[in-house]
Amino acid sequence: MYNLRVKQEFLVALWNYNRQKFYVLMKMMGGKKVLELKHVSMSVENGLNEKRILNDMNIKFEKGKFYAVTGPNGGGKTSLAKVAMGIYQHQDGQIIWQGEDISHKTITERARMGICYAFQQPPRFKGMEVHDLFRIANPDITKKDISLLLKNVGLCPEDYYYRGVDASLSGGEMKRIEIGNMLARKADLVMYDEPEAGVDLWTFEQLIKVISNEHQSREMTTIIITHNERFLKVADEIILLADGEIKDRGNVDKIWPLIKDEMACKWRNTCGGDLDGAECN
Ligand SMILES: Nc1ncnc2c1ncn2[C@@H]1O[C@H](COP(=O)(O)OP(=O)(O)O)[C@@H](O)[C@H]1O
Ligand SMILES: [Mg+2]
Repeated sequence: MYNLRVKQEFLVALWNYNRQKFYVLMKMMGGKKVLELKHVSMSVENGLNEKRILNDMNIKFEKGKFYAVTGPNGGGKTSLAKVAMGIYQHQDGQIIWQGEDISHKTITERARMGICYAFQQPPRFKGMEVHDLFRIANPDITKKDISLLLKNVGLCPEDYYYRGVDASLSGGEMKRIEIGNMLARKADLVMYDEPEAGVDLWTFEQLIKVISNEHQSREMTTIIITHNERFLKVADEIILLADGEIKDRGNVDKIWPLIKDEMACKWRNTCGGDLDGAECN
């Protein structure tokens, strides 16, 4: 109680003394946290039982930081992103976005507020063309911008601008279009779900560059769900998720030794040890 009064008196004094300094301090105190999950739990029906997918999750993502979320398959990484986006509804806890509880906001409302999620397996939209998808993401986008974004994700605009967003696109092509789409949105927080899946080696290098450049070009938060060591290396912080819980967090030197055996596959034993471009048989 005493502390609270002292804090209030200090803030009033600062307000009277210098408004600019007051705003800077307020920004430092409250403005850095962008997305926060507070005691979030989510279960789904599993036959007669309930299956718990996220278990009392507490996590904060800060403005301007680049995060990697990693961990074994089935650990809850995609569910975490879908709960934040509003695709899955959690039963307990709160999701706070820039200080506001958005637990009951729809996907569209969250998207308008600046949150964005790139699917692990992007959906197809029969009857829609690639440029339409970009215009939905950003109504002000020009033809030149779309072409540039397509180039940046390794797709020739001449071949892809008018392509249908349907089953004729390969998984890798669809994935790159989805990532281009995320870049077009200029969102405050972007969650990419395994962007490396299905893209070849050359494009993978380009993808890291494009996503990192976008991150550095403005004050945004980037969250990459990934198994790839190179993405882990560029992240400011890695979050290790398993069994619907956060097991650890830290930099690549701390986390990679904990997960590398889990990530290794049969292919790795014969490829010389480089995981990039690995495809499961
Ligand atoms: N809609 C759903 N219905 C039933 N089970 C689900 C659903 N979504 C995810 N799960 C289950 O929740 C667990 C975590 O899944 P997911 O978040 O996709 O893990 P990860 O992305 O880490 O591989 C898995 O066991 C998965 O089968
Ligand atoms: Mg997943």
